[in-house]
Amino acid sequence: MAQLEQIAAPGSEWWRSAVIYQIYPRSFADASGDGIGDLPGITSRLDSLKDLGIDAIWLSPFMTSPQHDAGYDVADYRDVDPLFGTLADFDEMLAQAHARGIRVIVDLVPNHSSDQHPWFQEALKAGPGSPERARYVFRDGRGKNGELPPNNWESVFGGGMWERVVEADGTPGQWYLHIFDATQPDFDWTNEEVKEEFRSILRFWLDRGVDGFRVDVAHGMVKEAGLPDYAPVADADSMGGNDEDVPYWGQDGVHDIYRDWHQLLAEYDGDRALCGEAWLPTLKQTALWVRPDEMHQTFNFPYLMTAWDAKALGDVIRESLDEFGKVGAPSTWVLSNHDTVRHTTRLAATRLPHGEGIGPKTPNKPAPEISLARGRAATTLMLALPGSAYLYQGEELGLPEAMEIPDEFRQDPTWFRTEGKRYGRDGCRVPLPWEADAPAFGFNDTGLSWLPQPAEWAEYARDAESSDPTSTLALYKELLAARREHGFGNGSLIWEDAGKDAVAFRRGDVHVVANLGTKPLPLPAGATVILKSQPFDGDALPVDTAVWYTTA
Ligand code: GLC
Repeated sequence: MAQLEQIAAPGSEWWRSAVIYQIYPRSFADASGDGIGDLPGITSRLDSLKDLGIDAIWLSPFMTSPQHDAGYDVADYRDVDPLFGTLADFDEMLAQAHARGIRVIVDLVPNHSSDQHPWFQEALKAGPGSPERARYVFRDGRGKNGELPPNNWESVFGGGMWERVVEADGTPGQWYLHIFDATQPDFDWTNEEVKEEFRSILRFWLDRGVDGFRVDVAHGMVKEAGLPDYAPVADADSMGGNDEDVPYWGQDGVHDIYRDWHQLLAEYDGDRALCGEAWLPTLKQTALWVRPDEMHQTFNFPYLMTAWDAKALGDVIRESLDEFGKVGAPSTWVLSNHDTVRHTTRLAATRLPHGEGIGPKTPNKPAPEISLARGRAATTLMLALPGSAYLYQGEELGLPEAMEIPDEFRQDPTWFRTEGKRYGRDGCRVPLPWEADAPAFGFNDTGLSWLPQPAEWAEYARDAESSDPTSTLALYKELLAARREHGFGNGSLIWEDAGKDAVAFRRGDVHVVANLGTKPLPLPAGATVILKSQPFDGDALPVDTAVWYTTA
């Protein structure tokens, strides 16, 4: 780990300031050529990530899974799905990443397993009242013969949150809870065996040398006692809903689990970290996940969900620094991930309820030029903020959302469970373009791709962008190098006033300003621009543009 120690500033844990790059393994690089990315593919492309200048990678799940929710339905938490390779491939990838000074975080999915997990299969066989069923949330149904679900909760992916089972004797039986797809039964986190099993899973990956975990659905693991009825606000903006008081999100009981895990991680060297995927409607609530004895980081989803509006953006940054600061945690920043419309498209779109996505029939699709300009400006601002930042694979190429995926290729369970009413998340999951002139744009050498790549993605291919100093890739490299040089991951900022249409602050000698208005914004006399989100001439900052500058 000698090389890794140089990354963090002395005396501070690496995760406080790290830039962490999310790899979605099925769409990153495909060494086997079957159309689905894999671990050897990741290993083969690590040099390009080193070159980009990130500190760590987070891998979405690659564990054994029937892939009903792209691997977020785990059947064996201690093995690699053959689609992605083997445990030996994982060890090799980890060693190669560490050799390049890149830390590795893996995804842990503790809210639910796959219905193919041996425990769930045992639960089905063992019947009502058994210890096997007690590991999941089985309940008798309501109605005369138990024919109605135990409550009225609705799955995040659409439809009800309960599935009825057929008992061993062939009769309709109990119901089990699934916040997501029916193939993803929720664990009962009041059950000691579940707790013990996950401690052991954490140790399995920590012993292999991972630097931490991104914890899936970290706000959903504990449900309100008695499972009271609750009807969500229609068209919730996020996976945490719009209400602060949802009986399956953000329950107090989750915090004891994280305190337990915090201590377990602390037994290991190297500042291993937990990052929570906790979708909660307010920053005040979100900050509870990162109190000093709980998780180390949590995703800043209120920031991700903020529209391209100067007041809203300034407010959410202020509140983030304030709320996370109160509990002594770094703020995190994130604009894109595998569950949301890519920010290069989203920031020019109208409101998008969670999981809605954009598809061929969506009216008024965002114009690509505006989207890219906003996306680049948003990142230019984000990478100047103190704290840790998450990037999602492909955003360094400026990839837009793939908005024309034909229906027959769709794979997101949201699409199926809403009978096509919501396109879901496939549009941000399309395999990456590496080479403009190669089959599948260099994703593999066979030309296969589990989701079709838009033809115009040739212009976003990494090799094409590598030789273009004005490309989004060139901008990301500049930003990451300058962020490191100036130590912007640590420290604090000073707000500046650049008018109501701008977000502006100072980091030491460097002024950062983004123009979210409709008119060019004059820069101060004597400003020397050191970095700009897109090329421009003259001394006024164009709309949808951000700069870093110094003054004499
Ligand atoms: C998280 C994942 C998402 C998945 C869901 C269920 O939100 O990010 O992709 O569908 O959990 O596991």
